[in-house]
Amino acid sequence: MNTNQLLGERSTQNPHVIAFVEDAVKLCQPDKVFWCDGSEGEKAHLLQVAVEKGVLIKLNQEKLPGCYYHRSHPNDVARVEQCTYICTPKEDEAGPTNNWADPKAMYAKMNGLLAGSMRGRTLYVVPYLMGPLGSPMTKVGIELTDSIYVVLNMRTMARMGVVAYEQLGEGTDFNRGTHCTCDLDPEKRFICHFPQDNRIISVGSGYGGNALLGKKCLALRIGSYLGRNEGWLAEHMLVLGVESPEGEKTWVAAAFPSACGKTNFAMLIPPERYKGWKVWTLGDDIAWMKPGPDGKLYAINPEAGYFGVAPGTNFKTNPNAMKSIQKDTIYTNVALLPDGDVWWEGKDGEPPKECLDWKGNKWTPDSKEKAAHPNSRFTAPMTNNPMLAPEANDPNGVPISAIIFGGRRATTLPLVFQAFNWVHGVYIGATMGSETTAAAVGAVGQVRRDPMAMLPFCGYNMGDYFRHWLRMRKLVKYPPRVFHVNWFRKDGEGKFLWPGFSENMRVLKWIIDRCHGRANANETPLAGCRDRNRSTWKG
Ligand code: GTP
Ligand code: SPV
Ligand code: MN
Repeated sequence: MNTNQLLGERSTQNPHVIAFVEDAVKLCQPDKVFWCDGSEGEKAHLLQVAVEKGVLIKLNQEKLPGCYYHRSHPNDVARVEQCTYICTPKEDEAGPTNNWADPKAMYAKMNGLLAGSMRGRTLYVVPYLMGPLGSPMTKVGIELTDSIYVVLNMRTMARMGVVAYEQLGEGTDFNRGTHCTCDLDPEKRFICHFPQDNRIISVGSGYGGNALLGKKCLALRIGSYLGRNEGWLAEHMLVLGVESPEGEKTWVAAAFPSACGKTNFAMLIPPERYKGWKVWTLGDDIAWMKPGPDGKLYAINPEAGYFGVAPGTNFKTNPNAMKSIQKDTIYTNVALLPDGDVWWEGKDGEPPKECLDWKGNKWTPDSKEKAAHPNSRFTAPMTNNPMLAPEANDPNGVPISAIIFGGRRATTLPLVFQAFNWVHGVYIGATMGSETTAAAVGAVGQVRRDPMAMLPFCGYNMGDYFRHWLRMRKLVKYPPRVFHVNWFRKDGEGKFLWPGFSENMRVLKWIIDRCHGRANANETPLAGCRDRNRSTWKG
């Protein structure tokens, strides 16, 4: 690797990467090609260009050093499940829960949209790792994009730069991702996955999971396909470690659908009465889990940052998230205060007297609309988190003792119950439901089945996915215990019955104790559901 090279110059000799870029240049016809290397100098340069172009606004650097503000196009604010395709030779491979398209037809359609699409623009070559450098579980991706905002987000969300070429070497085994914002026309928005080709093409959106191809596209949709073939699991799960006062660490993975509490649970701080207990964050959105040589299931977090929901985040509900977003953070679609600070519904303190809303319009507390979009987000490096688990960079990952499934359910589902065994746990995950949220375009608050919180993210036939989960039992001698939780039960007046957030430690502690054979449970028609009148809910 040439360490003295100029910004944007080619930073790899890998012929397969070079050929991939050359093909894209021929098709998209960008004015310039910028090869990212992940350096600090490059970051400073890209931030400056983004500010000059009006893509980012520099925030108040005294209050929020290294922080920037972005507004997306108002028609481009969330994932688009109806425009997301799994393109496999046979329709049955995509299964009944995915949009399917014939790969040949979809390649032709995408080539049509991409032809000449980057004229007058720069094509950025973004090499990245999903997973720690040197881990046998880590995957390499190359994302080609015309969006400087995407480059800067990928830099935070993944291990981005020449480090990816280091893992790749001369190899050809990398995910090929092409992303072009085109004219952000919702009618021409397609998020396409070609699992057999390890290929992603995304056009017409610049937002989140649609455009940061390492996240939902590679780490979940393509990842789940690879996991099925290679004997591991790619899941929409947080991973946290509970440390007891004696120093015993127990690792827990939890699958909740989008905007249903993963980031908050992953960053939980135990209430004061849990003296000496600590919770460490390994990851807040995605887990890759593989059977280890000792018969346990090991997890890594393939990501390196948090793309977290802003509304509702404050120093009471999630202090670790607030501390994580005080520096080097990109804020998207929140409200902008006159002094260059940011605000959203549910932030600490009173609403501002006046600000600019997420669309750039003047907003006051009398305004009818929300100041921040309900799916407004922060992009922050995981290293900002005071409780980041040191194991986050461990190439071997951490052994998982418990898997938790959970949804957002106003009625019916109890606070917590445990599955009898792995197969029963798979059944509970497969049949879970949750109310839809603003994380995806469409109606909000409607209960739908969302198996393992993977309905929008499973890259192949959901029936085969269940079979793969069942088969994992044979590959894992000591399978994690499986639980189901619901923080979102409501009373007759529509208020949450459960305080949630740090108080979820009560449930987490019981789960940990169950894993170590230290806590009781009642067998009931709803397995393990606690009798509210008899339960003491002691911490
Ligand atoms: P994605 O990033 O979309 O995958 O979401 P996530 O699962 O990480 O959700 P997140 O933790 O960001 O929470 C989404 C919303 O739910 C936020 O507005 C939180 O404030 C709220 N929330 C999280 N945990 C709780 C809880 O225990 N109780 C209640 N009432 N709300 C919660
Ligand atoms: C989700 O929707 O589950 C997210 C946000 O984590 S996005 O990256 O947009 O998919
Ligand atoms: Mn998510």
